[in-house]
Amino acid sequence: MKNPNTLCFLFVSLLCLFSYSNHQALAYIDEALKQCLIRHSQNHTAIFNDIYTPDNSSFVSVLQYPIKNTRFNSSDTPKPFSVITPREEPEVQAVILCAAELNLRVRIRSGGHDYEGLSYTTPAEKRVADQNPFLVLDLINFNNVAVDTVKKTAWVGSGATVGELYYRISEKSKTLGFPAGVCHSIGVGGHFSGGGYGMMLRKHGLAADHVVDARLVDAKGKVLNRKSMGKDLFWAIRGGGGNTFGVVLSWKVQLVDVPETVTTFNIVKTPDQNATNIVHKWQSIAPKLPRELFIRIIAIGQNPVQAIFNSLYLGPADTLLKILQQSFPELGATRQDLGEMSWIESVLTIDGFPNGTDPKALMGTIVNNGQPNYFKGKSDYVKNPIPVEGLEGVWDFLRENNSGLLIMSPYGGRMDEISESGIPFPHRAGNLYKIQYFTSWSEAGREAYENHMRWIRRMFHYYTPFVSKSPREAYVNYRDLDIGTNSMPNSTYGAQSNNWGVKYFKNNFERLVRVKTKVDPQNFFRNEQSIPPLSYIVN
Ligand code: FDA
Repeated sequence: MKNPNTLCFLFVSLLCLFSYSNHQALAYIDEALKQCLIRHSQNHTAIFNDIYTPDNSSFVSVLQYPIKNTRFNSSDTPKPFSVITPREEPEVQAVILCAAELNLRVRIRSGGHDYEGLSYTTPAEKRVADQNPFLVLDLINFNNVAVDTVKKTAWVGSGATVGELYYRISEKSKTLGFPAGVCHSIGVGGHFSGGGYGMMLRKHGLAADHVVDARLVDAKGKVLNRKSMGKDLFWAIRGGGGNTFGVVLSWKVQLVDVPETVTTFNIVKTPDQNATNIVHKWQSIAPKLPRELFIRIIAIGQNPVQAIFNSLYLGPADTLLKILQQSFPELGATRQDLGEMSWIESVLTIDGFPNGTDPKALMGTIVNNGQPNYFKGKSDYVKNPIPVEGLEGVWDFLRENNSGLLIMSPYGGRMDEISESGIPFPHRAGNLYKIQYFTSWSEAGREAYENHMRWIRRMFHYYTPFVSKSPREAYVNYRDLDIGTNSMPNSTYGAQSNNWGVKYFKNNFERLVRVKTKVDPQNFFRNEQSIPPLSYIVN
């Protein structure tokens, strides 16, 4: 066996050679990694079977399978030199130790939904890619879900989807649920790392509010749990964003009680049907309704523009009808609009599955099936109702782009009760609602890309007077590199020029930096929007 120091020296020289002979250098890196894994693994044969390099016929499918955003799945998207899909904790430890030893960058991937592709690439359009070769550590095999209905808890692997979690809960109980995202294919790993919200937000808060333990591999390759990681690190991983503090392998979550009968509805209004005034009223009342009621608006750019009032009520239809007639008569809801079902059926319905779909469908993921799906999202927080004239301008934007949409999600209820510093996710009391701006397209090429990016950025600019200021807050799980990035390749954070961290985390950013400085001072876990250690902050 070679001396590790010799290997390391050899490796630094190889990185210098990198630009001269890319292919050869990658082969050396691959070999150096394997040699290192032999030293650090008890059973290196097992992990060797889970390493995919470009010369492996499965490399492309393993890399591309979970990619949701075609913007980061083209021939010029920077690719990892390897995708590793470990099955056991010691394998993850060995990968981290070897990546650190060989100065390789690691991108951690759970469900692959990152809006800017940060879990599997360095964004091509920025052209500031980290110069070091990188590998993708894909947790797809860490997908075990173990539900304990007596203690009302579950351990869930980071590579499981929220749909798998929901389904496994429903297999065992009709009156337990979990408050996480709407789309079943979202990975638990990234979702919980950034907060994670869904239709039970007002009653129960975020997914991250319900994390009671976790297992994590840190930058030194150690496996930690809640007790051994300590209060600060346990605080930081519950909403401080992924790929910063370590590889979270699994999470223990507190489940929530749900009634046997819940009610959903979808009521569509167009501007001709008084949509503007109804949305205007919704802004003030939706955050104050009983917390069991979540009515979000999905406004879509069609002709005519539609405002879809999409709702979950944790209770029976008759009670909901009374609440709506009393507090929101403008919506004109009737008993026929309201559908009663079990909580798990509501998960399927709100996610767009046809009536009667077997809940097992939640175990599947969404694959693009060769259909390109380019998208861009952004977010904002609204603290005061937007005037009617402001909303009318929004319809004009939506009329321009029939694949553009806005999702407005009301806050209030439980969100008002949790302190801004309880976990790193800071957007609590004082917010009426969150806006997600979204556009998607299927045409390849620069023109479509430019048109859609210009549209969403103009829309975002239009909203400036109506949304939060100093900072203009954003939700880290709707990752948006427009709001600022670290300077790659070293991942330095420009405190004066670039305050993306404060937009995502407000005052919690400072504590996140302190935690990072303590647990990963060398900035091993880093990407374009990872929390920097203090020494990486420049003015
Ligand atoms: P992915 O694997 O891409 O990871 C995201 C980030 O976390 C990356 O930086 C990655 O490196 C890091 N990371 C991943 N696993 C990690 C781990 N185990 N340890 C440490 N770091 C890790 N959000 C929401 O709150 N409510 C919603 O309803 C929805 N709906 C939704 C629908 C669709 C179609 C998309 C594409 C996205 C959403 N989201 C959402 C946003 C979603 O919460 C966000 O993209 C999550 O980061 C996705 O987590 P994944 O594990 O899938 O992403």
